[in-house]
Amino acid sequence: AQARIGVTGLAVMGRNLARNLARHGHPVAVHNRTTARTRALVEEFGHEGAFVPAETPEEFVASLERPRRLVIMVKAGAPTDAVIDGFAPLLEPGDMIVDGGNAHFADTRRRERALREIGLHFVGAGISGGEEGALNGPSIMPGGSVESYEALGPLLEDIAATVDGTPCCTHVGPDGAGHFVKMVHNGIEYADMQLIGEAYDLLRNASGLAPAEIAEVFRTWNGGRLESYLIEITAEVLAHTDAATGRPFVDVVLDRAEQKGTGRWTVQTALDLGVPVGGIAEAVFARSVSGHADLRAASRDLPGPVPSRLEDAAAFADDVEKALYASKIVAYAQGFHQIQAGSAEYGWDIDPGAMATIWRGGCIIRARFLDRIRAAYDADPGTPTLLTDAHFAEALGDAQDAWRKVVATSARLGVPAPGFSTALAYYDSLRAERLPAALTQAQRDFFGAHTYRRVDRDGSFHTLWGDDRTEVTA
Ligand code: 6PG
Repeated sequence: AQARIGVTGLAVMGRNLARNLARHGHPVAVHNRTTARTRALVEEFGHEGAFVPAETPEEFVASLERPRRLVIMVKAGAPTDAVIDGFAPLLEPGDMIVDGGNAHFADTRRRERALREIGLHFVGAGISGGEEGALNGPSIMPGGSVESYEALGPLLEDIAATVDGTPCCTHVGPDGAGHFVKMVHNGIEYADMQLIGEAYDLLRNASGLAPAEIAEVFRTWNGGRLESYLIEITAEVLAHTDAATGRPFVDVVLDRAEQKGTGRWTVQTALDLGVPVGGIAEAVFARSVSGHADLRAASRDLPGPVPSRLEDAAAFADDVEKALYASKIVAYAQGFHQIQAGSAEYGWDIDPGAMATIWRGGCIIRARFLDRIRAAYDADPGTPTLLTDAHFAEALGDAQDAWRKVVATSARLGVPAPGFSTALAYYDSLRAERLPAALTQAQRDFFGAHTYRRVDRDGSFHTLWGDDRTEVTA
């Protein structure tokens, strides 16, 4: 046995992760179903470190020091099960299988349980940062047993991104906790991207700015509290010109957003947990709307408002910056609420502040802002919502007039801003002294005798709506 850790599945993420390990001085066994990939990796990057190529699963397993650390980087779903089923019989109690793909946390729970029964550790590890992150330092969210983290943590922390000397990797919690948190990370990623898209769309269609001008606005924002990887790449994309046509690049890309499923899972899971994540849900639905070509074509001639442009583009851009920041706070607050709800449901004991810490670098949603979230949890680890943290509450208060103006402008000019709107509605719903849920309860009691509770007395009640409308105790 010459390798400290092994990676099987050498598509771009697996290959870059293996190179990252090798570059950090960890001898890494590499294996792929088709051996050509393994050979190509060693040929091209062999000089970067100690690679131990293996042609067969048996050879691969034999090359790993014990307890074995085997990372699988294959497609989520059936391919992952197939690889696990192939390797599990070759392993011995105490060995570890790490799934670094975007698995559904329920699959990870199932696999962890099955492998635990035969003495193996199964670690569902969320890995974020795309190809570049895998190579130069991703954010890593490993779940699984404490014991497995003792053996894996130092290696993973070594190859993860670091911010202020702190690695962007920590033990998230048992079984599916890591993949759950990665799923919510992606849900937040969807929401953040949607909000940025709406900001762009408003600047373009309400103020009439050109993509290159909007790139400048985003560049300015990136120097302030919105500083983040997503804002930075947005400026890059908007400034880019299509070589073939000379048009702004964003104008030659078909406007139908795809998705691989993690955003959808976030919303499905939130529905099961009863957590309101409107910002994430609207982002998933916005991608869905964009993809319905027939529906959009059939609706194109529906009447809209009389076209008009805003006079003061600079003032509006300032308002949009505030609306974006406020909506972003809401989207992240919703995602963190979901993490806390999932943690309570599955007994994971996840530290939300630690999640904010490991998202500061390496991952797609990396941002200065996450330091603020960490500080909010430091100040009040049990807070039911980030919105009431002193810093965020003040920012929301300061932004709210502009936020309302932007949402009103979007409605008035007919530029859709579902993310901004739902975030503001969530904010106002939480602030409300009374919600029309009282009326909902009364209606439910009227048509279905579903009963209601009263503000002034304990118990459940029903009104005899079809009779003399006296109230009875249910
Ligand atoms: C990451 C990303 C990544 C995700 C892609 C595409 O954290 O590195 O979240 O895991 O798969 O961003 O996701 P969609 O295809 O669903 O947009």
